[in-house]
Amino acid sequence: MKILVTGGAGFIGANFLNLLVPRHPEHVFVNLDTLTYAANLGSLEGIAKADNYRLEVVDIVDFEAVDGVFTKHQPDLVVHFAAESHVDRSISGPRAFIKSNIEGTFNLLEAARKHWSDGKGLFHHVSTDEVYGSLGDTGMFVETTRYDPSSPYSASKAASDHLVRSYARTFGMRTRITNCSNNYGPLQFPEKLIPLMVLNAVDGKPLPVYGEGLNVRDWLYVGDHCEAIWKVIGEGADGETYNIGGNNEVRNIDVVTEICSIVADLTGKTKGELEGLITYVKDRPGHDLRYAIDATKIRNELSWEPTETFETGLRKTIKWYLDNPAWIEQVRTGEYRNWIEKNYQDRG
Ligand code: NAD
Ligand code: DAU
Repeated sequence: MKILVTGGAGFIGANFLNLLVPRHPEHVFVNLDTLTYAANLGSLEGIAKADNYRLEVVDIVDFEAVDGVFTKHQPDLVVHFAAESHVDRSISGPRAFIKSNIEGTFNLLEAARKHWSDGKGLFHHVSTDEVYGSLGDTGMFVETTRYDPSSPYSASKAASDHLVRSYARTFGMRTRITNCSNNYGPLQFPEKLIPLMVLNAVDGKPLPVYGEGLNVRDWLYVGDHCEAIWKVIGEGADGETYNIGGNNEVRNIDVVTEICSIVADLTGKTKGELEGLITYVKDRPGHDLRYAIDATKIRNELSWEPTETFETGLRKTIKWYLDNPAWIEQVRTGEYRNWIEKNYQDRG
């Protein structure tokens, strides 16, 4: 099978390729990525020279270029990760989210429709639980929960989900959608909560917690997400949506204190010293209070189960960041520093 993976140089896409390229030498994996600030080819060093791996540096906003990749590689399957993914960036600059997440998904669907006239190709769309909006203190998101996105990011992902469904209903395209909760693990760009807090703790910098730190996220180890996507591709049903989550709700403040505890354990700093870095800052506008995924459908229908607990996964993740200073140096480019300075300073 020829598999077109979009966004394969980002956090989840790179974990997906690192897992599957060596495991499946019988498939060819083509990574289509425009290499934004969030991409890092250093994340793919282990597979870059594999016989069954190719890289195409292409922007999904450019239809002609996307069409060219379809003509050249004739994929049977698209696994669509490419997106602008950070909520805070979508607040300070939403345009790129509309372009990449909505127009880019539309271009991929159009190219797939043109090249898959035999109706055999499969389009797997990777999406998020944020499309469902915010929960109060109780309840969980199921696949039929009404869409109610809060940020430009989640609204753009919701629009892309609707487009994918429309291509299934209108054009008969074979599609599947997965909506997953918060991922964490190796290779995550340090603008997101967990890697940002780990690196700041190691550097003795403030740990900026939004509002009172009482927002709840449902954390899933990235490897478990990748295995779930592969299972849906292999065993799921066309036209269906599957929620993926770890059944692991944690308040932000508890995530941060747990990070302090593990970093202290691994570096010889004290937990008290690190907790002293916690700084409560101005809340994110439109900040969703709580996410919780009900993953009963994928568990029951496809026998998928996460393998990492939050304790084992978080320790593994922090150890990875401590053991990979070269990767961290690569992502800390001038652009990263500029953005952090402009947007994450003076948040008090
Ligand atoms: P990321 O920001 O780490 O990586 C995104 C990748 O997409 C980068 O390599 C980037 O270069 C590429 N990309 C962005 N715009 C592009 C464009 N116009 N053309 C080609 N490539 C482009 O994101 P991530 O955290 O790995 O998320 C991957 C996908 O999973 C996204 O669709 C996201 O919405 C979804 N998702 C993420 C999470 C999470 O917790 N991170 C949870 C659920 C779903
Ligand atoms: O739920 C899935 C989503 O999870 C994905 O679709 C997104 O791509 C991914 O970025 C993530 O979105 P969040 O907004 O939940 O993740 P983030 O790491 O930005 O923030 C997690 C929580 O931590 C959130 O409640 C905001 C809070 N936070 C975040 C940062 C960066 C802080 O308190 N301080 C911070 O500095």
